[in-house]
Amino acid sequence: MDSGTGKTALITGASSGIGQELAKLFAQDGYNLVLVARSDDTLDRLAEVFKSNYGTQQVTVIKKDLAEEDAAQDVYNQVKAKGITVNVLVNDAGVGLYGLFATDTDWEREKAMIHLNVLTLTQLTKLFLYDMLARNEGKILNLASLLSITPTPLMAVYAGTKAYVYNFTQSLANELKDTNVTITALLPNATDTDFFHKAGAENTKVTDEVQDPVMVAKDGYEALMAGKPKVVPGGLKNKSYEVLAYVAPQEALASLMHEKMSLKPDPAEETQKEKSSTLAWGIGFGIAVLAGVAIGVAYNNLSAYDKARYRYKAKSWGNALADTFASVIDTVADTYENVKAKADQVVPKKEVVEKELEVA
Ligand SMILES: NC(=O)c1ccc[n+]([C@@H]2O[C@H](COP(=O)([O-])OP(=O)(O)OC[C@H]3O[C@@H](n4cnc5c(N)ncnc54)[C@H](OP(=O)(O)O)[C@@H]3O)[C@@H](O)[C@H]2O)c1
Repeated sequence: MDSGTGKTALITGASSGIGQELAKLFAQDGYNLVLVARSDDTLDRLAEVFKSNYGTQQVTVIKKDLAEEDAAQDVYNQVKAKGITVNVLVNDAGVGLYGLFATDTDWEREKAMIHLNVLTLTQLTKLFLYDMLARNEGKILNLASLLSITPTPLMAVYAGTKAYVYNFTQSLANELKDTNVTITALLPNATDTDFFHKAGAENTKVTDEVQDPVMVAKDGYEALMAGKPKVVPGGLKNKSYEVLAYVAPQEALASLMHEKMSLKPDPAEETQKEKSSTLAWGIGFGIAVLAGVAIGVAYNNLSAYDKARYRYKAKSWGNALADTFASVIDTVADTYENVKAKADQVVPKKEVVEKELEVA
């Protein structure tokens, strides 16, 4: 029997990316679903797929902009009105925003991001957790990020919201430790979804290495089911980033992240640079080939005697270098001796001069 049969999972942000992959895992395990996002047409299509592929009994679609005032209360009220008991809550819906905080980013978008990533997540947790504790049963998964534990220039507000999610979730994990309700923070590294494009960060270096949302969702799902307080998907590499984030100075981390969040070099400039260096190499190579051909032609036109002579010369060029060095030293020594001898001839010695004076 599937572990989720008869139970219901409510997933925000189920219309794409990690949320959609999580919804699939719940459907495969026999859960009924409440899917929440703004794109209700996508959610409706997903509902059909889950029903036909996995035999999902009940899928409820709630179209809601979770960045709106009281969005969480409205979703909760709709679920209650339908008589649905939520056994698992997944707070996945979230957005990012790229740019320098002071000059680039738009405050209205930032305010909506804080509302969605922080306020709605907190209020949904409060509302559903209260009911879970009353039943002493339930699970919550909150989408944090590896950026929760690293300062992140150029996505400062987003990283701030995720730091909140992580800290909030770890605090609740402790508050809930003597109950049958668990809460888990999922901390993915950069993941291959529409997230970066929507945030205006699709050309950043961090997107060079993105992980599979299927793997992220699977690791998150397993940690949630095991009741773990947190999970960093992606094996040893991402866990080592986590350790680095705990031990490295914040300033150093901020510099590292600034570099990772910076834009990739302009492909047009790169192509131009590549073209210039290829051209330089091409010209150099061309000259070398022409010189080689010229020498070859000239050599072929030589008489047998001259060819032998040049072969002998080429062979002796190696020895000649060493000989040249030695002969330079000899020449300097000889020159000194010669100059000295000439000076002796030109400048009469004191006794010679005296003798000549005597004769006079
Ligand atoms: N991708 C990454 O690199 C990465 C890394 C770490 C953590 N995360 C976190 O993972 C979560 C899922 O992101 P993703 O990567 O899967 O991105 P995604 O593919 O863009 O999915 C975002 C989901 O959030 C929903 N959403 C956005 N704004 C909403 C709003 N105002 N009201 C209701 N729903 C809204 C979207 O649905 P609609 O547009 O249909 O409303 C969509 O279903 C986010 O919390 C994100 O911060 C992502």
